[in-house]
Amino acid sequence: MDETIYRGLNGVNVDTSQICFIDGDKGELIYRGYDIRELTEASYEEVVHLLWNGDLPTRAELEALRAEAQEDVVLPDGVVDLLRCMPAGAGPMHALRTAVSALAAFDPNPDGVDHENVRRIGTALLARMPVLVGTLQRLREGKEPVVPNPDLSIAGNFLYTLTGEEPSEAATKVMDVALVLHAEHGSNASTFVARSTASTLTDVYSAITAGIASLKGPLHGGANTGVMNALEEIGSVENVERYVLDTLAKPNGRIMGFGHRVYKVRDPRANILEHVAERLARESGESKWFEMSLEMERVMDREMAKKGREVKPNVDFFSASVYRMLGFPADMYTPIFAVARISGWMAHLFEQYADNRLVRPRLVYEGPRGKTFAPVDQRA
Ligand code: SDX
Repeated sequence: MDETIYRGLNGVNVDTSQICFIDGDKGELIYRGYDIRELTEASYEEVVHLLWNGDLPTRAELEALRAEAQEDVVLPDGVVDLLRCMPAGAGPMHALRTAVSALAAFDPNPDGVDHENVRRIGTALLARMPVLVGTLQRLREGKEPVVPNPDLSIAGNFLYTLTGEEPSEAATKVMDVALVLHAEHGSNASTFVARSTASTLTDVYSAITAGIASLKGPLHGGANTGVMNALEEIGSVENVERYVLDTLAKPNGRIMGFGHRVYKVRDPRANILEHVAERLARESGESKWFEMSLEMERVMDREMAKKGREVKPNVDFFSASVYRMLGFPADMYTPIFAVARISGWMAHLFEQYADNRLVRPRLVYEGPRGKTFAPVDQRA
């Protein structure tokens, strides 16, 4: 037996996939053949169709996807009641994970893993995730949930159910770009967890709930909330350097929004989000968060160069200031990530269920051997 250890499965190929290619050395990200920079003009629905079906939709295919998603956009009353029971201080990712898991109880066929049923559930989740997050936010503000507007896109309805106001075209476009950039990223931790969970042939809701649980972690999707918490703690551009130096001086100190297991250069999504953040800062006049982000990167570049390393911004870094300037509270950033990533998770579940193999790695045992049992009263 090969006893080579690959901690964190670093560099291990577990399967093939047709969905996403990442070149970590060049900073390239490709969804089904399209460079991510080509897709910033696409709506989130177009990219969902691309990820799920292998190519961008025709007008008819796009309208069909939108119509099907709209059929399930309204949440079951029981799930809304569950959200109403949540304590006001409940973390949004705890509430989202619980609500998605609860949706299974209201589904007429939650356990079927044939392609048609998986696609049906996936399309319903695509429509409902943004409404769940919007409903969460409205309830914790002490306001009534907003009934989704079937005439709005997924990005538009998301903003509408979050704020209760019909969003501007510009805000909808920013949300579309953010959802597209966060839609898919190969075998990241939460996608691997979703695929690994599905590999036992359990249901879609269980696999997606597992993915949400994994995404919440600060080393993964929780980083964008961590970035904004850090920026709010720092408070001004002048205090950034001190914060970075103090954090790096701590054992295993990590600056949220920097570094990546695959990218060894800047995450191409960070490049795009930086431009979005810069434009929003200029248009809103609220440039503080963007300027602090640039200063943080300057100090990180200098300090990592001293270590002979390049630890660059990842997708979470500039998304934090973008979401702040869109008016979202910091603890809603990771739920927004989950709203986007349902498309990537589902694309991978289609692949996993279609050609499944149980995921079951090994651990090299280093514990004791040959011990003999003694009855409890004879043990020292
Ligand atoms: C996402 O995988 C994906 O695709 C994820 C994602 C997606 O779309 O699904 O791209 C989304 O999760 C992006 C990552 C968000 N997480 C963060 O921003 C959290 C902060 N980042 C780090 O914790 C870290 O960079 C990881 C977890 C992202 C990657 O960690 P690795 O690959 O295990 O690398 P490591 O922690 O072993 O660090 C390697 C070196 C270390 O130097 P040494 O201590 O060995 O001398 O780089 C340094 C680290 O010190 N380093 C950092 C750092 N990240 C790496 N130093 C300071 N701050 C950081 N953020």
